[in-house]
Amino acid sequence: MSGKKLTGEVYYPDKEILDRAYAKCESIYKSAEEDPLAFWENEANNLHWFKKWDKVLDDSKKPFYKWFVNGKTNIAYNCLDVHIQTPRRNKLALIWEGEDGEFRSYSYFKLHRETCRFANVLKSLGVKKGDRVTLYMGRIPELMIGMLACARIGAIHSVVYGGFSVESLHERLEDSKSKVLIVADGAKQRGKIVELKKIADEALQRAATVESVLVVKRTGHQINMESGRDMWYHELVNLPIANSSECLEIVDAEEPLYLLYTSGTTGKPKAIVHTHGGYMVGVYSTLKYVFDIHEEDRYWCAADPGWVTGHSYIVYGPLLNGATSFMYEGAPTYPYPHRWWQMIEKYGINILYTAPTAIRGLMRYGDAWPNRYNLSSLRLLGSVGEPINPEAWRWYYRVIGKEKTPIMDTWWQTETGMFMITPLPCTPLKPGSGTKPFPGLKMDIVDEKGMPAEDNEEGYLVIKSPWPAMLRTIWNDPERYIQQYWSRFPRMYLTGDSARRDEDGYYWVIGRVDDVIKVSGYRLGTAEIESALVSHPAVAEAAAIGLPHSVKGHAIHCYVLLKTGYEKSDKLIEELRQHVGHEVGPIAKPEGIEIVDSLPKTRSGKIMRRVLKAKALGQDPGNISTLED
Ligand code: WTA
Repeated sequence: MSGKKLTGEVYYPDKEILDRAYAKCESIYKSAEEDPLAFWENEANNLHWFKKWDKVLDDSKKPFYKWFVNGKTNIAYNCLDVHIQTPRRNKLALIWEGEDGEFRSYSYFKLHRETCRFANVLKSLGVKKGDRVTLYMGRIPELMIGMLACARIGAIHSVVYGGFSVESLHERLEDSKSKVLIVADGAKQRGKIVELKKIADEALQRAATVESVLVVKRTGHQINMESGRDMWYHELVNLPIANSSECLEIVDAEEPLYLLYTSGTTGKPKAIVHTHGGYMVGVYSTLKYVFDIHEEDRYWCAADPGWVTGHSYIVYGPLLNGATSFMYEGAPTYPYPHRWWQMIEKYGINILYTAPTAIRGLMRYGDAWPNRYNLSSLRLLGSVGEPINPEAWRWYYRVIGKEKTPIMDTWWQTETGMFMITPLPCTPLKPGSGTKPFPGLKMDIVDEKGMPAEDNEEGYLVIKSPWPAMLRTIWNDPERYIQQYWSRFPRMYLTGDSARRDEDGYYWVIGRVDDVIKVSGYRLGTAEIESALVSHPAVAEAAAIGLPHSVKGHAIHCYVLLKTGYEKSDKLIEELRQHVGHEVGPIAKPEGIEIVDSLPKTRSGKIMRRVLKAKALGQDPGNISTLED
């Protein structure tokens, strides 16, 4: 990395950043590359194990890799118990602000106590090791506490993002066969209430496995409580059983920690499985080195805990590092576009990690809003979720970071569990590039045949060696795990993204090459949107595509074929949009719906979304020899 002059627009970190950083670019890449397993083993040694592993990696049953074989640990123990035995006991673990201005804070001691109480409540409902528990809430501390409580007793959590709706929740409850649902009565969003419990009631009518529903009070509005099934969390947690101290399950490193549903190429969302051991080591060390968390820092990851970014870098990563995190319930622009900047000043935030869509959304309002606040506490910035366009990068760097805060553009996925392509604070940056694979990782860009692509040639982004936080399988569908990720090229994990690498070895991720659409950084599958449309009585067939959007990155556009007897009208189009919102969630509401007479299909009947997309963008559709009509 040193010596050679880099090409293009390059930003170098200043001395202060370099001196402070844990990761030294001169040594960390080299040593991790020489012996990746020793690198990860070293990292694992910083964490607590009730019994150490026999072997770092077992690759005898590829692609079903095992990490820290026969190690015994518990990630929640490492997040909390470890710290309360040190002076961190009284340190703030979490600072939280509600959309309405409500404020709460939790020391490590308090977070530990609340987690134990929550864990005991779950135990009293009969939740045991290996049982699945679904959580469906807004951005409130109870979500974090609930996740940790599950982990503590060895239950597997499945968080469903609060922006999802009836069908999405139902599908996830069914597929995971959850025993308990933890739901908030509602969520506060832009001054309104999202009726989470009401949505859950509808989803529960279609889901058979849920025995108990634990309701966390957030909004306090009138909701339906079904007797025998629904219980208030605040009532149970005040019973004497909640204070029992026996609520820790020591688990195997490979024990599942959580399921997280995500959209893939075809069909229904699938549950990615992450484990206690390897995942813990991966998120702990990536966060430490990339965001360079020091004892006195205040770190804010503005994602939602309901997505992988929140799992790894709001809940587990920061707590494993003994950090102080900030969490905010609401939207960045509510009630005005100053809200974030105001809180950065108020809480003295040092590290801000967000998504390009949020940056573009705030940039629209101009420099005056952030300029009214003192943002000088910021030392590092981060970006995730989609490629960041250089204009947004420069604005973030100049107006928010005052040209002194490096931007960590982190590329990763629900499946990878941890950062994969990312700068370190010592890395020279190029706007729009995530720079290089994290130390010790082997990644590449390959052509159709799986051969390494030339410099600057676009190809498939692949991962060529296992990593500790990697997904272990797809829940209940190991075949699909192999099929989706390990079949296209032998011994390579297929990311589903296309990318190129420049002459300096810097990676430039271009975007998805499959049927996944990233809307405001949220991952949605065309199949989910299409099946929601087809579930409406008027719709015979539907196709969804993503088209570029200046703030959202991509927006959903749909083409719909009506059943006979239905007439095209603006009213019907609006009804269809609402229907998708109701079934999948507001984030999935199509930007535009066009009623058409036919859809382009291959002779085998597959909709050619690529042709629709090219047509919408006024581009050449390319090879259409397989087109039927
Ligand atoms: C995209 C989110 C470019 C990519 C953590 C990936 C990115 C998908 C970046 C995973 C980035 C994420 N630059 N593209 N820094 N980060 N992506 O599972 O297409 O919600 O495959 O995980 O987001 O989305 P997921």
